[in-house]
Amino acid sequence: MALVSMNDFLPKAKAGKYAVGQFNMNNLEFAQAIVEAAIELNSPFIYGVSEGALKYMGIEFTVAIAEAAAKKSGLPIALHLDHGSSFEVAMKCIRAGFSSVMFDGSHYSFEENIRLTKEVVKAARAMGVSVEGELGTIGGVEDDISVDEEHANLAKPEEAIRFYEETGVDCLAIAVGTAHGMYAGEPNIHFDIIEAVSKAIPVPVVLHGGSGVPDEMIRKSIAAGVGKINVNTENQVACTESIRAALNKDAKIYDPRKYLTPARSAMIEVVKSKIQLFGSSNQA
Ligand code: G3H
Ligand code: ZN
Repeated sequence: MALVSMNDFLPKAKAGKYAVGQFNMNNLEFAQAIVEAAIELNSPFIYGVSEGALKYMGIEFTVAIAEAAAKKSGLPIALHLDHGSSFEVAMKCIRAGFSSVMFDGSHYSFEENIRLTKEVVKAARAMGVSVEGELGTIGGVEDDISVDEEHANLAKPEEAIRFYEETGVDCLAIAVGTAHGMYAGEPNIHFDIIEAVSKAIPVPVVLHGGSGVPDEMIRKSIAAGVGKINVNTENQVACTESIRAALNKDAKIYDPRKYLTPARSAMIEVVKSKIQLFGSSNQA
């Protein structure tokens, strides 16, 4: 099967009140772990690729790995640019074979964010590629994007609704209190914002910063209208902890397969638990 747009599965997720996971791909082992977990549970999923990860892996390898996963699994998989910073980078990804892009204009003014997102939607739609927009600022650190608590601001429902109506995005990330990276305490998620926006627009709300969010809060977010949830940090932690443990146990290891194999297995377990929690098992 070829890579698909998120429109192949997100409308069904919104109607069925479950969420599809976006799991970020940082290297081959991440990609393999994510698709293995999804095959076991027969779930659609999204490979998220940040601009930093794109630089690290190279665009050709990124697309080739995702295409190989789609072909091998037969699952509906979207290859999605995560937090794309410009029209140019979105177009570069689409030309290379991405089936979906996020344009993150949250650091622009509201009007400018609408204007730029509309341009991406117009170009992407013509090529059958789905688009995610972002409103409000999500706190925390992801790659080169760092937003401190003080500058993270929640989305206003009226603005989010207008943003959707003017841009026509296929899903909408709104800042509701989650953050990138791990939490020191528990996040304070504003379910009322999710509900107000989700009720008023036909497309799903996206929850960024999905790592470390307690299961019950994830369930409540989905019930309130979240249809796509992003997870990266929990896989990074599982991968690195496993490698650290393997190297600490045997300082003589030099074959990377000896520590990358358990690291990959650890990520499979993380992704499987998220797919089950999000309710997308057997929805492929
Ligand atoms: O865009 C990616 C996700 O929002 C990552 O969130 O750091 O909580 O895994 P996370
Ligand atoms: Zn994010």
